[in-house]
Amino acid sequence: MNIITLGHELLRLKAEPVKIFDAALVKTAETMIDALHDGKGVGLAGPQVGLLQRIFVVHIEGDVPRVFVNPSIIETSQETVKYEEGCLSIPGVWAEVIRPRTVKVQAWNEQGRPFTLETEGILARVILHEYDHLEGVLFIDRLSEPKRNRVLAKLEKARRA
Ligand code: NI
Repeated sequence: MNIITLGHELLRLKAEPVKIFDAALVKTAETMIDALHDGKGVGLAGPQVGLLQRIFVVHIEGDVPRVFVNPSIIETSQETVKYEEGCLSIPGVWAEVIRPRTVKVQAWNEQGRPFTLETEGILARVILHEYDHLEGVLFIDRLSEPKRNRVLAKLEKARRA
């Protein structure tokens, strides 16, 4: 499973709902968790591995790996927090992003079991970052324009080197 990077058009498309919960979906989730671990990341969404489907996996330190299929963001806090983010599809770039402090999300796991999760902290942050991927949104889109330009310039420089 290869992780695609910034510039690939799939990262900018809206992912399609998963329609069939079967053994192939379970396998996809497992493979995505493996890719997440290999990349030493905390979250990975379908489009990042070339699957334009509404699925993402999250594994933060001290927690179990979690799979979210067809997620809906039900609620986010008015209160926001700033925290440094990176993305496996934008290697080498880290920047502080402002996001809601808490999130309530409804989704299905890879077995087709529905669940609702209300959380905060890093888990909330990663869920919101991965959900963005399903909408074709990247964390650099959430930076101020001068900050985003600085990041893109740095990336361009790194690419040429
Ligand atoms: Ni990402």
